Amino acid sequence: MAITTGSHILVFPYPAQGHMLALLDLTHELATRGLVITILVTPKNVLSLTTLLSAHPKTITTLVLPLPSHPAIPSGVENTKDLPGDGFKAMMVALGDLYNPVLDWFHNNPNPPVAIVSDMFLGWTYHLASQLDIRHYTFSVTGAFSLSVIFSLWRYQPKRRDQENENEMILLPKIPNSPEYPWWKLSIIYRSYVQGDPASEFLKDGLCNNMASWGIIVNSFTELEQVYVDHLKEEVGHDRVFAVGPILPAGNKTTERGGSSLSNNVLSWLDTCEENTVVYICFGSQAVLTNELMEVIAMGLEKSHVRFIWAVKEPTVGHVAKKYSKIPDGFEDRVAGRGLVLRGWAPQVAILGHASVGVFLTHCGWNSIMEGVEAEVIMLTWPMTADQHMNATVLHELQLGIKFSAGMEIIPDPDELAKLFNKSVSQETQVERKRAKEFSTAAKEAIGENGSSRKELDRLVANLSY
Ligand SMILES: *[C@@H]1O[C@H](CO)[C@@H](O)[C@H](O)[C@H]1NC(C)=O
Ligand SMILES: *[C@@H]1O[C@H](CO)[C@@H](O)[C@H](O)[C@H]1NC(C)=O
Ligand SMILES: *[C@@H]1O[C@H](CO)[C@@H](O)[C@H](O)[C@H]1NC(C)=O
Ligand SMILES: *[C@@H]1O[C@H](CO)[C@@H](O)[C@H](O)[C@H]1NC(C)=O
Repeated sequence: MAITTGSHILVFPYPAQGHMLALLDLTHELATRGLVITILVTPKNVLSLTTLLSAHPKTITTLVLPLPSHPAIPSGVENTKDLPGDGFKAMMVALGDLYNPVLDWFHNNPNPPVAIVSDMFLGWTYHLASQLDIRHYTFSVTGAFSLSVIFSLWRYQPKRRDQENENEMILLPKIPNSPEYPWWKLSIIYRSYVQGDPASEFLKDGLCNNMASWGIIVNSFTELEQVYVDHLKEEVGHDRVFAVGPILPAGNKTTERGGSSLSNNVLSWLDTCEENTVVYICFGSQAVLTNELMEVIAMGLEKSHVRFIWAVKEPTVGHVAKKYSKIPDGFEDRVAGRGLVLRGWAPQVAILGHASVGVFLTHCGWNSIMEGVEAEVIMLTWPMTADQHMNATVLHELQLGIKFSAGMEIIPDPDELAKLFNKSVSQETQVERKRAKEFSTAAKEAIGENGSSRKELDRLVANLSY
């Protein structure tokens, strides 16, 4: 295929840890294939581009614009990880005010971008692209099934009959396998939508725009989600849905993502453990657990006697610090030698990639799922916020994951958790282990030479190079 490279595109990530990492890793792939890229970020997020910019000094530049103020965003905060749970909506709204500054920048640029690739939470950029008469591409941080659910909600707007019933089942009959979920498991943006409310209408408009984009880029691969990729193509009425995943960090896995490196004692401790005997526990960059749930997990770990690494996120703005993230007193001493607690950011890809780590208790964020699939671990699913349940569904359907719990409200039994931990590292999970191996192989093949995702990426680059 003859590819005209050198086209200039604007990449606009949404400032939440998981969203940024994936789109920036994709940006690296695009730059490697010859595209010239401007990345739009707010001042405090420039730092997270350091590695990427130094890898592509000639082809990637930044457009730094201040974050427009918003009453729900304290000054100085420019990433949702520093905001309370639903702060991501305020961030979506605030960023919408960049419309005119970006438009001005386009008008003053002698070689303006021919396309905008923006995160799915920045759907308003579709109008900007239309006004500029250039192409708009949506980047979906989530997989094809999850995206199908989001599209289905906004397009068909299923309602509850009983406004009080959080458990009422909502059917999504257009999606293959006709999934259904209780109301409370649906996306919070959808559930909290109020007709006529300006913020609600803005968010709705943005999410609906994604369906009208010229192209949709999904962090998944066809071997994992073929039927849902096909479904998306049907829904949008064209085949410019590009499944390019798993999108993983390029280069050295022990030093990637988030900046810090895996401390040597973690690695050398893992080296002393047997293959597939260690459970890794992490609820992602956003969820902060209540002390009650912390206790359940700690007790489960103690009672199980499994080896583990537990990454604990510290409370942030909006949390009453002493009610969250507390490791029970004496826990670390009692489990010394067989378990480690890591506070703050954990080098997840490196940990998952270690042969000793065989099980991953996860909140089912899509990046975590992609990393888990690639790393060939069994996943114990505990989706935390409303919209991670759809991600968990995919794992259950594929027998890659074992359901454990859902949400912050349910307090599971620590004995059940201990049993599951024990089971997960035992012979009883041979089916899941076999599936994990199959899909890990498929993931590596997909992104390898001649692989499906590699071809999709080439198709995307060709499409962007016009
Ligand atoms: C990756 O980085 C680690 C830590 O800096 C280093 O020990 C290791 O040799 C590196 N591996 C490769 C393949 O460069
Ligand atoms: C888990 O297995 C260990 C032995 O490996 C055992 O001592 C412990 O009681 C088991 N826990 C549960 C809850 O089954
Ligand atoms: C899947 O998880 C990601 C977080 O990684 C989230 O942004 C997305 O909304 C989830 N999918 C769905 C359908 O909710
Ligand atoms: C990829 O395809 C080319 C051309 O068909 C072939 O020569 C090459 O061996 C293939 N590579 C792999 C890894 O399969």
